[in-house]
Amino acid sequence: MIFYYTQTTPTIKRLKIHQTHRNLMIFFEYMSMITVLRLGHRRYRDMRITTHVALTARAFGATKVILSGEKDDNILKSVTDVAARWGGGLEITYEKNWKKIIKDFIGTKVHLTMFAPNLDEKIKDIKKEKGDLLLIVGGEKVPAEIFHVVDYNIAIGNQPHSEVAATAIFLHEYTNGQEFKTDFKDAKIKVEPKEHGRKTVEKS
Ligand SMILES: C[S@@+](CC[C@H](N)C(=O)[O-])C[C@H]1O[C@@H](n2cnc3c(N)ncnc32)[C@H](O)[C@@H]1O
Repeated sequence: MIFYYTQTTPTIKRLKIHQTHRNLMIFFEYMSMITVLRLGHRRYRDMRITTHVALTARAFGATKVILSGEKDDNILKSVTDVAARWGGGLEITYEKNWKKIIKDFIGTKVHLTMFAPNLDEKIKDIKKEKGDLLLIVGGEKVPAEIFHVVDYNIAIGNQPHSEVAATAIFLHEYTNGQEFKTDFKDAKIKVEPKEHGRKTVEKS
């Protein structure tokens, strides 16, 4: 696209081509894939919160979730079932070796931790990075090594809270609030928003 205009192209046309190019860049930026890596899952004790990390990741723009820690087929199945019904094609897998996931990932690696500089100071720099994003959230105990193998350690405030809240706020800022516009075309069931009451529509 950039190569289509020359010095002699009329200004108005140049502007249009510029705009198209800008839109394409925005499109491609948005096309970057978001993967959430959840560290240190404990079967039984973390079942609910890890499920919520995965569902939050999906609703806020991630297309892939990787669980590490203890293997838990129940979570893989329940999240896969939700994704199949509500659309969006989220892929969820288990990987014992989280170090390899981080090492092999091509793109920007962000670790969410209360001990780091805050998101509002860093979000512009993170958005400027090209390519895919790996967002890493911890569990009860986070290995110290993690702080040194990522591109950014980022806090959502310097108070302890939760991996679900941290994931949601980070992705909200990163995608400019795309969750408000998400409409999965392949959904079998959809909410029909109402001021009062609940309504869902099922595709036959
Ligand atoms: C229950 S916390 C565990 C914190 C733990 N004490 C540690 O070693 O960091 C689980 C995860 O939630 C996320 N988290 C909690 N509070 C956060 C905050 N203020 N900013 C960013 N992430 C946070 C982090 O990813 C953290 O690893």
